[in-house]
Amino acid sequence: MDKNVLNGLFRPKSIAVIGASTQPGKIGYTVVENLIKSKYEGKIYPINPTASEILGLKVYPTISDVPDSVEAAVVTVPAKFVAQVAEESGKKGVKGFIVITSGFSESGRRDMEDEIVQIGKRYGMRILGPNIVGTLSNADKMNASFAPFLPLPGKASLVSQSGALLIAMDASTYTRRVGFDKLVSIGNMSDVNFADAIEWLNEDPSTSCISLYIEGFKDGRQFIEVSRKATKPIIALKSGVSAHGAAAAASHTGSLAGAAKVYGAAFQQAGVVQASDLDNLFDRTLALSLQPPMTGENILIITNGGGVGVLATDAAERYNIPLKFAPAEVQEELKKHMPEFGSAKNPVDITGMAGTEWYHDTIKYAFAHPWVDALVVLYCETAMTDPSEIARGIKSAVDESGVKDKPVSVSFVGGDKSDKAMKWLVENGIPAYGAPDVAVNVMAALRDYARMRAEAAEPIEPCASENRQLALDIINRARTDGRDALTEVEAKEVFAAYGLPVTKTHLAKTEAEAIQLANQVGYPVVMKIVSPDILHKSDAGGVKVNIKDDKAAGEAFSTIMENARKYKADANIHGIAIQEMAPWGTEVILGSVNDPTFGPTMMFGLGGIFVEVLKDVTFRVAPVTSTQAAQMLSEIRGAPIIAGVRGEAPRDRKELANTICRYSNMILDLSDEISESDANPVLVYEEGKGVKVVDARIILKKK
Ligand code: ACO
Repeated sequence: MDKNVLNGLFRPKSIAVIGASTQPGKIGYTVVENLIKSKYEGKIYPINPTASEILGLKVYPTISDVPDSVEAAVVTVPAKFVAQVAEESGKKGVKGFIVITSGFSESGRRDMEDEIVQIGKRYGMRILGPNIVGTLSNADKMNASFAPFLPLPGKASLVSQSGALLIAMDASTYTRRVGFDKLVSIGNMSDVNFADAIEWLNEDPSTSCISLYIEGFKDGRQFIEVSRKATKPIIALKSGVSAHGAAAAASHTGSLAGAAKVYGAAFQQAGVVQASDLDNLFDRTLALSLQPPMTGENILIITNGGGVGVLATDAAERYNIPLKFAPAEVQEELKKHMPEFGSAKNPVDITGMAGTEWYHDTIKYAFAHPWVDALVVLYCETAMTDPSEIARGIKSAVDESGVKDKPVSVSFVGGDKSDKAMKWLVENGIPAYGAPDVAVNVMAALRDYARMRAEAAEPIEPCASENRQLALDIINRARTDGRDALTEVEAKEVFAAYGLPVTKTHLAKTEAEAIQLANQVGYPVVMKIVSPDILHKSDAGGVKVNIKDDKAAGEAFSTIMENARKYKADANIHGIAIQEMAPWGTEVILGSVNDPTFGPTMMFGLGGIFVEVLKDVTFRVAPVTSTQAAQMLSEIRGAPIIAGVRGEAPRDRKELANTICRYSNMILDLSDEISESDANPVLVYEEGKGVKVVDARIILKKK
């Protein structure tokens, strides 16, 4: 991407407002007024066919009439005129075309949107929007929008898909005291999308943290790729996470892959911190924009009140960073700065008698100690202490500790004085919140960020298989038959081509063949109907297990065939699968979907009732690295069952993780072919004894 071109959108040196209006209250008037009010230092050129002057500025009938070059155009003419002014702007050499106007793809007129994008492409002009509020930058004193004012200055920048929410957030930056440098309304994303904005903001010297409000987008892989490479923290609030596409799903995995889970997995892989709601987006943005990431696991809490200490302790457990006691030497030193009845454990309770000095001394010592990875300082307003004094004590202790690579967060619980003290802390670079829970929650964000960054730096393994052609031949054969689902035997052959450990399975067309193949596989065997018209084999009486000899095999062949005919008289029956009977193991499910945003995506969970009832599954966008596969195994609720519970030997996690990686490689390599797939059940044996895919299903993409 040519960054200079995007400068034309986000920090242009001159702006034409096309559709500038003489009438106060109109968007075209407000944008000109906002540029003036924000003290924009570049040139402003109002464009209007009939007016001669707006707010003291000379007006030009068209952009072509402007005597100088123009870097950006903010467009506030009705939709039907936008293409025409795009053409004129392109000719004029405009780099950034900011389309506030609504009435495009959001209301069924994608064609009009596409037309503008095509014009932009012809002239090397990038399009922001349409259907946006505009773009705002404190660093450039530029309010090129119809939002009322520039946000509270700060180090974060926000990209929002919702315009109305951006306006609301703009105002609340002041009440919440979370500062932003840029606010970018991204709207329909006809051209510039989240990935483009992230890439640009990552290079922007005025931005230290990138916040996103996301409703949904198409180019998920580009988003992951750009975010993984970003060197600044990215935090995202994703709305609209109710199940999407689930109703049409043909596989187990398809029905379980809701937007919340897939976006959540993608954010993790992209190293993007998630926010749970708007409050959380602001709170986490504040911490990520002011503090370094938290590497390590040890949070030390320093408090003057037991109650807030316990609340923070509970929060630490809830956010998965449970507190540990500090080593004895740390406790001994801390004891020197508190009364006899204080506690040097964790939380460190310096008691209600604590004044500025005790806060200062404990913080200065503890923050610099190598055991401490992060500090959370809590304060309950008391009659004997002045909150602003305490705040100054905290800040000077942090500074004097000389520590720059560990985070600190603060919570003051009290009234106006505490509120003022927290404002001062934030202005001085220390995130401060009214609730202890929040001071811990943001620490979890800083810790997650550090972890995800480390993972995002991991190389992604190559994914092609030498046996790709073999898999394609099987798939093409099914397509020639007019099928969009592979049979179990075919699906297993495809799995095997990618190194997945499937049970030995052969197709018998006659009773004699069944007996011969059963001998070849070795008794006991399982026999299953193979028919594209019978997906639920057991329901059709199409499965017989533990067949021990030739006689039983012969009988099973006839019974299964008979049952299948009864179940569906006109079913197309390929034959009966003769399959090795795998010994019992822990049942898990692996599967894949082709997510509309992120493409091939893997699922893992415990099988049987766990998947049916509890939906205890987890996702990752393919390809899945070995670290990510190991995480998948440990993040489901049933993880202890895999790890070995109540005296049971641990399962073969290594081989299971390898299988997930190979499976993810397969769905990526065959992403043009496979729509959904399941390996269910997969049996997992004791450590060192591997795994076996017992049943397999592949649904093909419609071509
Ligand atoms: N070149 C220059 N100026 C032109 C041209 C042209 N080719 N054609 C018209 N104009 C002028 C008009 O003369 C008018 O100026 P005037 O008031 O001095 O006469 C001005 O452009 C605006 O045109 P109008 O026809 O008056 O249009 P209006 O201002 O009513 O609406 C607007 C235009 C605001 C772009 C409207 O079509 C629209 O899309 N509104 C929604 C915008 C929005 O909300 N976007 C963000 C969505 S996100 C959220 O929800 C907050």
